[in-house]
Amino acid sequence: MIEGLLKKSVRDLVPYTPKNYVVDIKLDANENNHVALQLNDKIAEALKGVKINHYPDSDSTVVRQMIADDFNININQVILGCGSDQIITLIINAFIDPEDKILIHTPTFDMYRITNKIAGGKTLEVPLGNDFEFDCKNFINVMEKEQPKIVFMTNPNNPTGGVIAKEDIIEITKKAKGIVVVDEAYMEFFNESAVDLVDKYPNLMVLRTLSKAFGLAGARIGYSIASEVLTKAVNRVKPPYNVSSIDQVAAKVCLENKSWAMEIIDDIIKEREVVSEALKALGLKVFDSEANFILFKMENAKGLYEYLLENKILIRYFGETGPLAGCLRMSIGTPEENKKVLRLIGEFL
Ligand SMILES: Cc1ncc(COP(=O)(O)O)c(C=O)c1O
Repeated sequence: MIEGLLKKSVRDLVPYTPKNYVVDIKLDANENNHVALQLNDKIAEALKGVKINHYPDSDSTVVRQMIADDFNININQVILGCGSDQIITLIINAFIDPEDKILIHTPTFDMYRITNKIAGGKTLEVPLGNDFEFDCKNFINVMEKEQPKIVFMTNPNNPTGGVIAKEDIIEITKKAKGIVVVDEAYMEFFNESAVDLVDKYPNLMVLRTLSKAFGLAGARIGYSIASEVLTKAVNRVKPPYNVSSIDQVAAKVCLENKSWAMEIIDDIIKEREVVSEALKALGLKVFDSEANFILFKMENAKGLYEYLLENKILIRYFGETGPLAGCLRMSIGTPEENKKVLRLIGEFL
């Protein structure tokens, strides 16, 4: 009976269900395995001052101001969300009526399509190329023909690690008749942000997160940067108190320790090249990545996934159908973690 009461758009929805296996080495969700324990102590100390009996600051003023200062923009250009996942939901809730269209490239992060499906919107997909390169010409053709209300681009892309040239983002934003969202969840590993474009293009919104480079995935902090007019429009659907006091404190501590995270980012980038070369030397097809993970393809990907799991290591396996058939994605862990995984992959092969 309950299933029958579900709204139509949700009845055939396949939910996004991350695997909750207990493992020794967790490399399935593009997290940062370097910083967590060091940040914990500082956050725990700062939490002593939290008035947990009161609701949080609904505007997350302190953290938004820190972000605004970092990017040299106005605080009214920033929204703080319970993860950038929530900002994606806010954007869709603000703009998408049933049957409205969004445009994405595929493969990419699943939450644009899932959130849009829940809202009753239609998702148009432009495939990436054979090596998952972005096809700007085709993307613009489809955009101009279909006139989607929102365009989502992920730069660097998850799960492929590929990037979109800034000229392409500018051209698409200029030609778009709707909202353009550039999801920069992994931008700290690439450094070609579109944030400097938001003052020029009022229809452009950039999404960032503290979950990846800054090691704060457990606290759930994401944010958007856009023109004041677009920020105000999206803010119309923001629930009050959407970021808990605990998470706001964690974000503040995290941003206060930003320089420390920057050193780790450099290490992850170096280690990414080490892992990539090692996988290639094992004869695997490795896709170029500018993020904190690597996508690779092989025969019997499922077998390797299971072998690593038996050894208490979790990476991401994408199944045997669709554009990601036979692909596996592993986050760049600490050098010790990477060494162990590479050794086991070698053994498996
Ligand atoms: C491209 C992309 N955007 C957004 C997110 C969500 O991040 P958050 O933890 O900020 O909700 C992810 C998480 O994997 C992602 O890969």
